[in-house]
This record gives sequence, C-alpha cells and structure tokens, in this order.
Amino acid sequence: MSDSQAKFVSYIEENQKKLIDSLSEVVSIPSVSGDASYRQDVFKMGEWLKNKLSTLGAEVTAHDLGVQDLDGKEVPLPPVIVGSVGSDSSKKTVLVYGHYDVQPALKSDGWNTEPFKLHHDENTGCLFGRGSTDDKGPILGWLHTIEAHKELGLELPVNLKFCFEGMEESGSEGLDDFVVKNKDTLFAGVDAVCISDNYWLGTKKPCVTNGLRGIAYFKLSISGPARDLHSGVFGGMVHEPMTDLIKIMSSLVTPQGEITIPGINEQVAPLTDEERKIYDVMDFDIAFVDEATGSKTTVSDNKPDVLMARMRYPSLSLHGIEGAFAEAGSKTVIPRRVIGKFSIRLVPNMDPAKVIECVEKHVESEFAKLKSKNTMKLTPDHPGKPWLADPKHWNYEAAFKATEQVYGVRPDLTREGGSIPITLTFADALQKNVLLLPMGRSDDGAHSTNEKLDLSNYVKGTQLLGTYLYEIAKVTQ
Ligand code: BES
Ligand code: MN
Ligand code: MN
Repeated sequence: MSDSQAKFVSYIEENQKKLIDSLSEVVSIPSVSGDASYRQDVFKMGEWLKNKLSTLGAEVTAHDLGVQDLDGKEVPLPPVIVGSVGSDSSKKTVLVYGHYDVQPALKSDGWNTEPFKLHHDENTGCLFGRGSTDDKGPILGWLHTIEAHKELGLELPVNLKFCFEGMEESGSEGLDDFVVKNKDTLFAGVDAVCISDNYWLGTKKPCVTNGLRGIAYFKLSISGPARDLHSGVFGGMVHEPMTDLIKIMSSLVTPQGEITIPGINEQVAPLTDEERKIYDVMDFDIAFVDEATGSKTTVSDNKPDVLMARMRYPSLSLHGIEGAFAEAGSKTVIPRRVIGKFSIRLVPNMDPAKVIECVEKHVESEFAKLKSKNTMKLTPDHPGKPWLADPKHWNYEAAFKATEQVYGVRPDLTREGGSIPITLTFADALQKNVLLLPMGRSDDGAHSTNEKLDLSNYVKGTQLLGTYLYEIAKVTQ
C-alpha cells in the first residue's frame, strides 16, 4: 500500500464523526422524486451537492433537464450535477454515478424513528434514515474520498468525473438523452465507470456486481361509471371496474411467480451449464432472504433457484391499485375508476419494446373475454433495458483487489435483481466498462421502513471506493 493510500484509509477511520454528520445533513433533506410536493427538496439536495463539490475543489455544473408530466401536472425536473476533479492526462479517468433522490417515507408507514432524521443506534451500529443506503451514503463515500485527499494535501490517484441525478427512483427521466448528447463533451475521456448503488448478497460478505435487471412498468386503468356508486343501489346493475381489473391482474402471474403472459418467458436467454454452477458455489443462504423479509416466504427452498429468480429470470410484481377503497372500515362503494400498477423485471435478452407489445396483446385479449362495457387503457412507464458487463476487465480486477484489501476476502461476483436505468446507457454511449461496487448490505431495507446503513459499511465502504481508485491507478493498460 502506498503512503498516500495508507494516509487516506486512516483519515476515513479517524473521521467517522464527519461521515456521520454529513449523512445526517443530507438525510434531513427529503428529496423524494416520485411525489410532486417534494420537488423543491430534490432541488435543494442537488444544490447541496453542487455546493459541497465546489467547496471540495471540484469543477461542477448543474444541468437542467426540462419538465416532466407527473400525474397530469407539469413539474420541473431536478438538475444533473456533473463535476470533475483533476485532468492529468497521465492518469486514468473514472466516472462515478449516484442518485440523490430517495423513495417516499412516512413515520406512520412503520418507521421506529423519523425517516428524515438520521438516527445513530449505538448498540447495533446502524444509521437509520431514508436514503442512508440508497443512495446518499454511497454518494457521500465519494465526496469523503475527495475531502480526505484535500485535507491531507494529497492528489487523487485518478481523474474523477461525477454524474449525480435526482430522478433515479422515478425512472431517470431525461438522463439517457443527456448522457448521449454529452458523451463527447462532459463525458469525454472516461476510461471506466463505477456505480455504488446496490447491496451485498447477504450481511457479511462483500460483492462486486456485473448485472442488473431492466424494468417495464405498467398502469392499467379501468373506468366505467361517471362517479363512485353505492353498491346497494347499483351493485349488480353495472359493470364494476374493480372486478374487471382484478380479473386481468390475476391473469398476469401465478402465486408461484410464473409469468403467464404469452411471449415473455420465451425471450429469456437460456441457462448454460457453466452459468448454473456459479449459483451452487455463491456464498448465499436462503436465511439471508428470510432475515431481510422478516418471514419465511420464499417461493422455493432451493438455493440456486432462489438466486436465479433474482439474478437471471424475469419477475412480475403487482404493486397497487389507485382509486380502490383502501382505508380501514367497511365502505360499500363501487369505485368509478381504478388503476392497477404492475411491473416486469427484465433480463437478457428481453427487450422492453417487445415486452410491452406482449403485455398489450395479452391485456386486450383478457379484457375482451370479460365482455365488459367499461373502458380499459394500458400505459407503459419508464422502461429500462437489462445490463450485463464483462467482468474480465481491469475495472473489475481493481474492484476485486480493493475489496480484498479493505475486507480481507475475495468478493463474490453477483448480478442484481433491481434496476438502475442509466447503467446500460453509460456502457453503450461511452463504450466503456461499467462496474457496480456496493456499500450496503442485503438487509438495509432500501425502499422499505427503517432503511439503514451500518456505520462499519459506511466507513469501510468509503475506504473501499478510495482504495478502488488506487487500484485503478496501478493498472498498466
Ligand atoms: N439502488 C436501486 C437499484 C437496485 C435495487 C440495485 C436492488 C440492486 C438491488 C435503485 O435506486 C432503484 O431502486 N431503482 C429502481 C428503478 C426503477 C424506478 C426504474 C428499481 O429498481 O425499482
Ligand atoms: Mn439506488
Ligand atoms: Mn432505490
């Protein structure tokens, strides 16, 4: 380990309070991108990042992406914060991406503490708060890496570029075009891309990730009566939107998780014997899933099947029904319009356009079977393609070596079930290798109640991101 690297690692170790304080500052900004009423907080968070980066000596610009239609309202899109530190042509240039928006959270959802107030539980060593692991902690990991070097009077081992967006949780609207348009300007000279926005497979062993599933999201609206109706007066006399919707939604997937839309499973790349073996040896236990879900509800009890369900097969989830009566009590209403929400996670070689076509066809044919006089409308939303990178690349080698140094163990190579829509765009537009290097653990509860980041993951994860840059600098290609 070089002298500079050793100084960096100890600086992070010794400045844990700084790390906690900055996380506390950003968690207190409720930058929820999916709800128009929080939009000014997403802007505030972008502004915070821009100021912080410039204080750290980075060149930084905020880029306007225009407006968005959010449930019928026109709202301004939060800016992409692009920055760079260093432009030494003898060094490699690494582009890092992160998102500064978060999922919604209310204490009443079941949080033990205020979601937008960081709570450091000294007994468990956990830092609770919305965005702690997804994705504010990891973004701060990069910022503290720069800060440590600045404070220590050291140069970074590579040139860094940043791209931080505020719309990831809502489908990264506008970012694809932005990256493609600026590939030869803002993103010129990038040698490799690193994204820290995923999690370990379990709670003990780190991993490096080379695949993500894509996504196709759908809103299925059924409307009939012009107003909500009394079921005692109109029940049995009219076609009910909810009855139609439930029938169609239940025709999409079985309780065993099998997708029943014709033409979907046929698109999945076949499993080879070689790939099958990877899942046998991966350090994983179904108990990890039970722990993270707080239940024993896995569809299968077979380890490779459970792993493959997340990493290499598509899945269809039913998310909710807008407009349905959902409160306590026994209201006897017939809702006039209901909108079912569901999404399909996509894997190679599925194509969002083809998937959307299959869903449209299926839903239309199911609706026709109902002989209902109601009106149906299917709206696809934020499609994203699956991504798979070649791990036999110096970018991955650097990540493996860095993880070994920080955690003392060779990480697993994993694929992830979630989606980060911009990943494939970076790979395709910049034609560079992309790597996912996680900070948090599988039980962090991203998107869920009581989201947390273990302090040890925050500290070691920050050391890991910096160490990875030192390993990149050692690459001779
Ligand atoms: N950090 C996640 C992506 C992720 C999830 C990686 C699970 C690994 C495991 C990201 O913030 C996210 O939640 N993405 C959304 C994207 C969607 C809204 C297009 C997702 O996966 O639902
Ligand atoms: Mn994320
Ligand atoms: Mn997320």
